[in-house]
Amino acid sequence: MNKLRIGICGWGNVATGLFKTLQTNAGEIKKRSNLEIEIIAIGARRDNPKCDPGNIIIERDIFKIIDYDIDVVVELIGGVDVARDLIIKSLNAKKHVVTANKAVIFNHGDELLSIANKNGVNLLYESSVCAGTPIIKLLKQELAASKISKISGMLNGTSNYILSNMEEGMEFESTLKLAQEKGYAEPDPTFDIEGTDAAHKIGILSSLAFGSSLPPKDFYIKGINEIHKDDFKYAHEMGYTIKHLAIAKLTNNSIDLRAHPSLVKLDSYLASLKGVRNGIEVETDLLGTLHIAGSGAGQEATASGVISDLIYLSDSKIQKVNNNNESSGLINFIDLDFQYYFYIEASDLSGVMASISSIFANKDVSIESISQKENLNNDLVPIIIITDPFKEKDHQELVDKLLDLDSVNKIRSIRIEPQ
Ligand code: HSE
Repeated sequence: MNKLRIGICGWGNVATGLFKTLQTNAGEIKKRSNLEIEIIAIGARRDNPKCDPGNIIIERDIFKIIDYDIDVVVELIGGVDVARDLIIKSLNAKKHVVTANKAVIFNHGDELLSIANKNGVNLLYESSVCAGTPIIKLLKQELAASKISKISGMLNGTSNYILSNMEEGMEFESTLKLAQEKGYAEPDPTFDIEGTDAAHKIGILSSLAFGSSLPPKDFYIKGINEIHKDDFKYAHEMGYTIKHLAIAKLTNNSIDLRAHPSLVKLDSYLASLKGVRNGIEVETDLLGTLHIAGSGAGQEATASGVISDLIYLSDSKIQKVNNNNESSGLINFIDLDFQYYFYIEASDLSGVMASISSIFANKDVSIESISQKENLNNDLVPIIIITDPFKEKDHQELVDKLLDLDSVNKIRSIRIEPQ
């Protein structure tokens, strides 16, 4: 039987979830991996009334955990600056580190991985993306022989939950409230609804698949807060639904990295994944398209990923190559081409349709379809336009020109992701 001695830093939801899962699933871990994981000490700044650590030593100074005779420091304190400091000190003390902290990996990944390399230890972070739903080691190991051309998916469960409910006719605000009540959303839900959480995750996946840096250069991030439930109705009529997609794609050796709402075909795999689950599609040369879906948040799901890292370490405590230094540049977002869905709310008067379409024509944007929908209650009418692909750099100007028309009251636009 292999043994692994660990110290846990943090005693919140995630850390206590790990503690409990290591107890409830100890038999399974032993049976399946021939491994006994022993918690030597816990760094807890304060007690957690929801969890009794029994006889395990508790240190109020989390940094003291590094001094114990342990193989691994498990960083579950969250946040960025103190977590970075703790990880650096642990690696320099030649301890392996396992973390579930996406913000610290996104913002300091390259620095931390090079410190791990220098010290001959591992820094593992499976649960930083989609909790325990396997994607990090999948990209690093199982797909190591494949060329990956695209990773896309719903990496934020809260957004997927909200959009799935809006698809059923709920309003944005009430479904966000429900997500918070169910504990899906981050403590600050702006991270979920403005796309930051998904952006962190795709940044990490892009570094593994394509060697982009951590932190990556700025890239385009937009959340779901401007989508209206009616957009689903119009999208459905044309065979689409709306998902918040995080995308990393290799095009001519440059990386197209972005996270924003997208129309996707209703019959696509990603469209079929509803609710709080995360779903990822990985396009490879050797395996074709791979689909992964699972829980992306919660105590048990996160514990599952952390334990998978611990088992990986126990299999081989020798250092693996921690990062891929073959960095490629990011494509400038405004140079990309997108097909667009436009919702244009306009006065129901003669000549309005013609003036709207002439703005598209003047910008040399070709229209694939245009249709006027049922009048709203206020003499305004929704006009739905699907364009052919055009340069992102022309999009804002097109919107501004449309809004300049007296007859146009409101515009929403969403990119269409080809599948
Ligand atoms: N709040 C995140 C989500 C989970 O909704 O997916 C943690 O990353």
